[in-house]
Amino acid sequence: MAEVNLLARYPKARRNVKERMVHKEENRRIALRFGKEYFDGTREQGYGGYRYDGRWIPIAEDIVRHFKLRAGQRVLDVGCGKGFLVKDLMKVCPGLEVFGLDISEYAVVNCEPEVVGRLHVGNALHLPFPDRSFDAVLAINTVHNLDRTGCIQALREIERLAPGRAYIQVDAYRSPEERQVFEDWMLTAQTYAMPREWEKILAEAGYTGDYYWTILEIDPEWTT
Ligand SMILES: C[S@@+](CC[C@H](N)C(=O)[O-])C[C@H]1O[C@@H](n2cnc3c(N)ncnc32)[C@H](O)[C@@H]1O
Repeated sequence: MAEVNLLARYPKARRNVKERMVHKEENRRIALRFGKEYFDGTREQGYGGYRYDGRWIPIAEDIVRHFKLRAGQRVLDVGCGKGFLVKDLMKVCPGLEVFGLDISEYAVVNCEPEVVGRLHVGNALHLPFPDRSFDAVLAINTVHNLDRTGCIQALREIERLAPGRAYIQVDAYRSPEERQVFEDWMLTAQTYAMPREWEKILAEAGYTGDYYWTILEIDPEWTT
């Protein structure tokens, strides 16, 4: 188990926290449906337009290198959305068999054409695949959408499918100020903690894969 940032080459987004704070509870209620509004509605209620733009290609390259993936091996992306990472993993490693699972039927129905038939609608709590059936499992910004008990169950499921061969990234903060910015911004997370607290959760789940944190940086211009 190692702390390693496989999203180091993901572009940084600017976040207008003040704008999202208006009607926050209503926005949160709508976002939690993980439907059209969350993916392709306004920025206040989610992504504000979840469209493929190739930004996952460098991350896919780093994942392939990190896990030494090769043609014929199998990868699962839990919380795959419309399958952008699934598509890019297959692009950078031809012959790699990549699949996805997401709770959102909207995302799966509106997936990238290259991944039709590879994405399943389902819940990270119960991954409908045999033990040790994948060479790597990814769950990027997904399991923190469950409560603490659910996180532990999802982590056990990930571990079951690919013992020691997974990568998760979860919402975290390192200071009270970062926690405040995160709480002001976030719409769907149920479990978020300081990195050392997360490590206790990972240990309690018996998770032996790799991990890193999604930490919102404070933007003085756009912070309340
Ligand atoms: C913040 S998005 C991350 C999407 C993608 N992994 C990325 O990093 O861009 C969270 C994703 O997890 C999905 N999701 C939320 N709860 C889930 C659950 N319990 N099981 C499976 N997917 C879930 C959402 O529908 C959404 O696609």
